[in-house]
Amino acid sequence: MKIKIFDTVELSNAYIINEVVERLSTTCKVLGLATGSTFLEVYSKLISLNKEKRICFKDIKTFNLDEYIDIPHDHSQRYRNFMNKYLFFDINIMQDHIFFPITENQFNYEQYDDTIKEYQGIDLQLLGIGHNGHIGFNEPGTPFDSKTHKASLTEETRRMNQRFFNHLDEVPKHAVTMGIQTIMDAKEIIIFAYGLAKAPAIKGMIEDEITENLPASILQRHPNVTVVLDKEAASLLTKKY
Ligand code: F6R
Repeated sequence: MKIKIFDTVELSNAYIINEVVERLSTTCKVLGLATGSTFLEVYSKLISLNKEKRICFKDIKTFNLDEYIDIPHDHSQRYRNFMNKYLFFDINIMQDHIFFPITENQFNYEQYDDTIKEYQGIDLQLLGIGHNGHIGFNEPGTPFDSKTHKASLTEETRRMNQRFFNHLDEVPKHAVTMGIQTIMDAKEIIIFAYGLAKAPAIKGMIEDEITENLPASILQRHPNVTVVLDKEAASLLTKKY
């Protein structure tokens, strides 16, 4: 694992954006995307760079990690709507180059891994991490060899995500997510995390044993992963990086 620790979130995001721009201009034709608050700055900067014509999405395919089940199609927290709002509507991506594990009309997640393979795999996967170490919606206990599947959200994750909804009852209980194996199959991964609350999961992911109880710990076995942290998220690490 390559570990990059920055004093501020701004510096961390600047590093990530440089990496993404470099890949999109060279090797990356298939980009894996995630939702959540961690990504908003990066997506906003990608929009600006696209408007300035410094990056182009015309030939890029995107695969999102996950999508809620049992959420109204027009709900702002439906991940497709989130991505439309914070990225897709403002960049020159082709609509038929955007992939989600479930869409409005199709419950097609069993084919998702095959579709990714048809496009020769994900060149760069952007990833966040949950407070419990989840990646995508692979909660603790998810088998490391899982493919895209239907997942139940833990109560902890639902409570964390409650901030995006009016009430806990509104937070979906299920989602479809790329599996851990699906994520591990990406050729390169950049995972980023900010803030003190993520520090225990980051410590577990980087320095503790690899265990299904902390899904992100499997990334220790990925050959090309960069972890980008602000100093708060890195604050429990005991080694020098
Ligand atoms: C969502 C996803 C999740 C988030 C994680 C962090 O697509 O994959 O694993 O990355 O829950 O979310 P934030 O960024 O809101 O802290």
